[in-house]
Amino acid sequence: MKAMLCRSFAPIDELRLESIDAPAADPGEVVIDVAATGVNFLDGLMVQGKYQTKPPFPFSPGSEVSGRIRAVGEGVTGFKPGDRVASFCRVGGYAEAVSAPANQTYPLPEAVDFVTAAGFLITYGTSYHALKDRARIKPGETLLVLGAAGGVGLTAVELGKVMGAHVIAAASSAEKLALAKEYGADELIDYSEGGLRDTVKALTGGRGVDVIYDPVGGALAEEAIRCLAWEGRYLVVGFAAGAIPKFPANLLLLKSSSILGVYWGDALKADPERHAGNIAELFALQGEGKLRPHISETYTLESAVEGLRQVMDRKVKGKVVLTVGKGE
Ligand SMILES: NC(=O)c1ccc[n+]([C@@H]2O[C@H](COP(=O)([O-])OP(=O)(O)OC[C@H]3O[C@@H](n4cnc5c(N)ncnc54)[C@H](OP(=O)(O)O)[C@@H]3O)[C@@H](O)[C@H]2O)c1
Repeated sequence: MKAMLCRSFAPIDELRLESIDAPAADPGEVVIDVAATGVNFLDGLMVQGKYQTKPPFPFSPGSEVSGRIRAVGEGVTGFKPGDRVASFCRVGGYAEAVSAPANQTYPLPEAVDFVTAAGFLITYGTSYHALKDRARIKPGETLLVLGAAGGVGLTAVELGKVMGAHVIAAASSAEKLALAKEYGADELIDYSEGGLRDTVKALTGGRGVDVIYDPVGGALAEEAIRCLAWEGRYLVVGFAAGAIPKFPANLLLLKSSSILGVYWGDALKADPERHAGNIAELFALQGEGKLRPHISETYTLESAVEGLRQVMDRKVKGKVVLTVGKGE
């Protein structure tokens, strides 16, 4: 089978399309013929050795796929060859077939096409877990989303609205903010020129926001945490800007506020049943027309580097997906 391989930690352009043996299904696993693969910021970090998970070489990046079950390993129940699925395979998705834990693989509703499904699990799964399980956001609360037109950011805007929050979307351009508005944002802040804190203050009558969803990190983070209201919650989702922020502890004391870590991939391992429930709820919301996954660009397996470069260069709105074409 064909796979985009990483043979040493290096810039993303060093990824090469090669022919390798197809994977087998170990106990507890399924093998999926990949129809489509979601491209994520973490893929680019992983091939450069900058992500917390460092797989043995050679490996293919790609942590979420859609497709059809080709084989099931010992002890796997509930799936059979030919079933349509979406899976958080963790690694190996830039390939024509991938093995994945069966308990992180989900039946795909007939109405959801493979391209949409490939970009669904990580973005919606992370934002739903963050807002529902970690922040326990309540209807009427105010949510500030940074990087609001990015992969996870846009789903946080959309889910925030579904969950009854007043959503302030913040991003680096008018074009990105227009997309966040289309997805329901009530207020918009362009932070490319600075001034995030003052604008949030003005928009909230000086009160601040109840929840902050931050997939960006860097310098923006400390400015953002100063925007929390009394008993506010700050969700640490990612560091797309590169630097991991450090927060002065007095800020938490002064607002009786909390910083909450969000690591969907490991939360899934810790409690697969709870997350299977979350995914089923998300697919149901999508079926009801309440979620509209935004796939802005598709690439082929051969042009995967180009797609990944768009993501790493801050150019993408919503999701990029690779159409791999097997298992359709
Ligand atoms: N904790 C979890 O469980 C979890 C799950 C999924 C993803 N993540 C992490 O969340 C972050 C975002 O992931 P994503 O897939 O949503 O990425 P994405 O689609 O590329 O979005 C990231 C956003 O960050 C902003 N940004 C600011 N500085 C940037 C820079 N130097 N390079 C690129 N983007 C920059 C951009 O928005 P503006 O241009 O508007 O600033 C961009 O839209 C990543 O760090 C990823 O690893 C964490």
